[in-house]
Amino acid sequence: MNGVGMLSTRRALAAVVSAVTLLTASACGSADEDAGATKVEVFTWWAEGGEKAGLDALVGRFTTDCPGHEFENGVVAGGAGVNAKQVLGARIEQNDPPDTFQVHAGAELADYIAAGRVQDLSGEYDSWGLRQAFPQGLIDDLTVAGKIYSVPSNVHRANVVWANSQVLSDAGIVRTPKTLDAFLKDLATLRRAGVESPLALGRDWTQLMLLESVLISGLGPKRFAGLFTGDTKWQSRAVRDALADYAQLISFSNPDRDALDWPQAEQLLIDGRAGYQLMGDWLAADLAAKNFRAYESFTFPGTDGVFQWLADSFVLPAGATNAEGTRCWLKTVASAEGQREFNIRKGSIPARTDVTGDGFSAYQVAAMKDWESDTPVPSCAHGSACSQDWQNALNAALGAFSTAPEKNVTALQNALAATAAQYVKG
Ligand code: GAL
Repeated sequence: MNGVGMLSTRRALAAVVSAVTLLTASACGSADEDAGATKVEVFTWWAEGGEKAGLDALVGRFTTDCPGHEFENGVVAGGAGVNAKQVLGARIEQNDPPDTFQVHAGAELADYIAAGRVQDLSGEYDSWGLRQAFPQGLIDDLTVAGKIYSVPSNVHRANVVWANSQVLSDAGIVRTPKTLDAFLKDLATLRRAGVESPLALGRDWTQLMLLESVLISGLGPKRFAGLFTGDTKWQSRAVRDALADYAQLISFSNPDRDALDWPQAEQLLIDGRAGYQLMGDWLAADLAAKNFRAYESFTFPGTDGVFQWLADSFVLPAGATNAEGTRCWLKTVASAEGQREFNIRKGSIPARTDVTGDGFSAYQVAAMKDWESDTPVPSCAHGSACSQDWQNALNAALGAFSTAPEKNVTALQNALAATAAQYVKG
């Protein structure tokens, strides 16, 4: 049966017996394969700027390394995949997955594994030598019940503050803040100097990133990571203090934050209407793509020596039409040359350990060193620490806090604790 015919049969079946959709999907996964297919639909949210530049570089390698296969761009724009993930979810429900999709390594990926939506790549890991190529910690994070289901393309760092150097020097700020209190003072200095909203901030998930950095700063890496495993309580004095700091921080941010994605918040920084932005290091690539160089960056105050990591990875979905072409895409993503060309443009660092810093920016070379020596902690906003449902719930709680006229820290803490009680495993 060809792919289309099989698809409509399966759709009809799914409508009748939705309870067994999952089983149907995995059982029929390979039946959807089309030996003659040449297109490989690659589903990401890398639509513009530095992100697109990274994707384009991977596509260039794929075109060279995988003759007979053709890249098809299944991009859905929107930072952190907020829109893409919804489209992807619907397509998977309808048993119409792309040939491969971007998913964060860690808890977010585990959801797809548990649902039988992605295929085991352990054999590819062995034949492509990937167990030796990636650091053991990452291999551990990717392994579920002894199997590995995705190929990481990179490692991004989340706990980074980017600053407009001109704005800072105009206000006489010459020292990098080492503590949250010092940072709050600098924000107040900028406001007194006429920068009304000195901290550029965007919608819900960017707020979650900011909160996570504040929590790492207040609790330290171990207790922070424990918030997502159940080892650390959300109902504690330390979390409450962090939330009070967070409330202060957002009082320095642009009031239209809930309407902005990260590139629009970044524009406030570029235009000098803000002094700072907390964002992952895809910002470095994007600032370069926008030709803005008058900036500096530092780890969020109080998080020196901590590397909050996230990794984009690619999978072979159950039911991928062009499995052979997808394997070639995954091999390209995994390759040293693919990782070099992609990451140089993406702002991240290679997940592989055997790619040297040649050709990378000074920021990236420093990040490579930090990744080797710092304490790694995962990110919930980008799926390494928590499931998609937990991410969604935290985004909703923070979005509500952001729009509420009165910032009730106790209510926020209760909401976050209730969420953890619902989603923490074990
Ligand atoms: C993250 C993703 C990054 C970058 C960022 C902003 O979730 O891992 O690669 O795309 O979103 O969109």
